[in-house]
Amino acid sequence: MLKLAVMVSGSGSILEAMLAADLPVALVVADRPCRGLEIASWHNVATTLVDRKHFGRPFDRAKFTAAIQSALDAAAPDLVAMAGFMTVLGPAIFKSYGGRIINTHPSLLPDFRGDHAVRDCLASGAATSGCTIHIATPELDAGPILAQATVQVLPGDTEASLHERIKRVERQLYPETLAQMLLGRVPA
Ligand code: GRF
Repeated sequence: MLKLAVMVSGSGSILEAMLAADLPVALVVADRPCRGLEIASWHNVATTLVDRKHFGRPFDRAKFTAAIQSALDAAAPDLVAMAGFMTVLGPAIFKSYGGRIINTHPSLLPDFRGDHAVRDCLASGAATSGCTIHIATPELDAGPILAQATVQVLPGDTEASLHERIKRVERQLYPETLAQMLLGRVPA
């Protein structure tokens, strides 16, 4: 049985879509207490909280990344899906899980990398936005692209309204792409 681990930090609506699509989610890892962890519990999925606030000031990214990696190792997942996970992982984890950590990002990469993709897209005046499913690498939002979908920017859009329309697309495209990967149809 193939296993998927999902990493969350927020509302977890994409995780919810993965569970609704019957993806084999074996573990949910979070970097902070969040609704994503509650969703996992409602579905009887194992959870691990590696709370980033316990990793010092300045933030010890290497130690945090090692703790995330031990949590993942315990479940031995075939694929790891970041779904709104908001801490940048250190390079060490990509040695063990290289090519097997997938991310979704709310822009048409390579445009608007980083934490404020939707805000930056709106500020640019672009007529279209969208989402990108890609393989995560040590360089943020820069790994090989697996799938993209376009979303129109509408007059009067706010960051929240545009992001919600992008997330509707992510909730469909991300589970579909992961299902194809687990079936071996998209090279990981
Ligand atoms: C998604 O738009 C994802 O691309 C971004 O965070 C959002 C996660 O939403 N990194 P949710 O927590 O699954 O509702």
